[in-house]
Amino acid sequence: MKKNIFDSALDTSSLFLDKELLRHSHVPNELPHRDSEIESIGFNLVEALKGHIPSNMILYGVTGAGKTAVIRFICDQLVAKGKELNRVVNPLVLNCRNIDTQYRVLAHLGNSLIEDFEEKIPFTGWPTDRVFGKLVKRMDAMGGVHVIVLDEIDHLVKKSGDDLLYNLTNLNADLKNARSCVIGISNDLTFTDYLDPRVRSRLGQEDVIFNPYKASHLEDILRMRSEIGISKDAIDGGVIELCSALAAQEHGDARKALDLLRVSTEKADQEGSTLVCERHVRMAQNQIECDQITPVIATLPFQQKLVLYSVLINEENGLNNIATGEVYEAYKQACRFAGVNFLTQRRVTDLISNLDMLGLISAKTVSRGRYGRSKEINSCIPATIIASEIMRNADQGMIPVVQGRFKLQSRL
Ligand SMILES: Nc1ncnc2c1ncn2[C@@H]1O[C@H](COP(=O)(O)OP(=O)(O)O)[C@@H](O)[C@H]1O
Ligand SMILES: [Mg+2]
Repeated sequence: MKKNIFDSALDTSSLFLDKELLRHSHVPNELPHRDSEIESIGFNLVEALKGHIPSNMILYGVTGAGKTAVIRFICDQLVAKGKELNRVVNPLVLNCRNIDTQYRVLAHLGNSLIEDFEEKIPFTGWPTDRVFGKLVKRMDAMGGVHVIVLDEIDHLVKKSGDDLLYNLTNLNADLKNARSCVIGISNDLTFTDYLDPRVRSRLGQEDVIFNPYKASHLEDILRMRSEIGISKDAIDGGVIELCSALAAQEHGDARKALDLLRVSTEKADQEGSTLVCERHVRMAQNQIECDQITPVIATLPFQQKLVLYSVLINEENGLNNIATGEVYEAYKQACRFAGVNFLTQRRVTDLISNLDMLGLISAKTVSRGRYGRSKEINSCIPATIIASEIMRNADQGMIPVVQGRFKLQSRL
């Protein structure tokens, strides 16, 4: 029989027992170091099981602090208990990163209460009042207590304002046979600044803050996930500690920690190694960084690419802490190679600030005594990422620039 190209890939053994268990989408049934948060939320939502209205809540915390995992876990438990007690409790969870207008949220909520396709609310076209009325009717028809969870709500509020929250926190006035409460989850601690004070006081009856995980917390989380997801004894001593320490540096992000462990194990698998070692973690970190930064560099507008290249070419020639003027000199040459007109130094200063905001360079203002103030500009792109190559591949116009012979100022 002719060999299929997938045969050899299928045959290779893997250190994973079940890779899915190491992905973000998996909801673990144990969440270490989140007991007090689970208790506060549970203490409030138990009211739903008694047929009362729970307080509205806002859950805050940096990304990867376990907010989504905790709320999904609690909702599962709530539904299970409701069934056991023969009480109608209905969590309606949706993510406002994708569903980010009032109309779409209301339609989505309404549609999740109905099975019959014919009855679905269309994605656009109805007046908002009509969608709202339909939602109220369906909630009443089902009865019980509806817990509306709006995850990543900061996206929706920044994009579409707080009308939706105003309306949803007022639902109980319209409901006759059912009750409801709203739980908003935000990655941004300042999100209530965007809310009308009335909405803020109605929504924030109870706040729960998810503090960032410490390295030791992340170690426990990774150990628990690796025990079920990765073969026994496949992880070298120090690997979990390294993944946790690296993720703790980045605001204690459990998602980053899981990514590091999963990609490290993939790296070990690819090598046919039977042990995941610290070396694999370093490789994983490089890959994750590269996957994150590459699209940012590739999609920069052309003039921004020229400015970034002007910083990099100075560094390549051993010049660090360069001033705006030095970047500008290189930039003008880059424009000549590219055959485009150059912008004023003022505009280039703005572009430098943009690159700083994107985290690709750092531009610190320093005081030079009687010579006034100037900038010290350095690249922040990890050495393993070849930015000039990314720019050249993404934009043909960069080819003559990358091939150009720059005359740089010497400091000697
Ligand atoms: N205490 C925990 N125990 C186990 N896994 C966790 C814990 N906290 C977070 N995670 C996992 O980390 C990842 C990121 O968590 P998530 O809940 O999505 O964070 P957030 O919503 O705060 O950004 C998910 O895969 C989640 O399962
Ligand atoms: Mg989340």
